Amino acid sequence: MLRRLHPNQPTSFAFSPENQKWAEAQLTKYPEGRQASAIIPLLWRAQEQEGWLSRPAIEFVADMLGMAHIRALEVATFYFMFQLQPVGSAAHIQVCGTLSCMLCGAEDLVSICKEKISPTPHTLSEDGKLSWEEVECLGACANAPMAQIGKGLTSLSDVNDGGPTDNKSVSLAKKFNDTVKRIDGTDDTITIHWGKQ
Ligand code: FES
Repeated sequence: MLRRLHPNQPTSFAFSPENQKWAEAQLTKYPEGRQASAIIPLLWRAQEQEGWLSRPAIEFVADMLGMAHIRALEVATFYFMFQLQPVGSAAHIQVCGTLSCMLCGAEDLVSICKEKISPTPHTLSEDGKLSWEEVECLGACANAPMAQIGKGLTSLSDVNDGGPTDNKSVSLAKKFNDTVKRIDGTDDTITIHWGKQ
């Protein structure tokens, strides 16, 4: 998939004083001349601060690491964990669309996202609180179908509907609604597993 920078960019970026201190401490972990190795954690912290990675943020990190801007841009555009456009203020939902999850109902999850968030991925919901995208394997295939919300720290993998296949979309929609209710208006990031069918 082609990953491009968002057409609307802020004019500048700077780490908060706390994050700046944290970032400078990261640099000391690497031998002299190898500070570029810190690019992933620094880009990640910039994304955590702003919600997504803007061009000024990528270039700010590149300057801090003494890298050419293009090299930092290459990293930011390569890894899917970096969001190159604004995401929902409450949550960005990543639905796994790889084989195991597809076989177990990922298409239903995508349909729900299209209906309840936005018809297209990487597009904010009307209230700006949610966004979604389809991603590759999340590394939890045994619990398919999987979706990750934010960094994902809470798993609901013990949820098992056990209902008939015909009710799958209904039960997924219900769980989705419950999840949105839980995350709406907060900065919490959780992983939800909608359960085996
Ligand atoms: S295929 Fe979906 S988590 Fe691996």
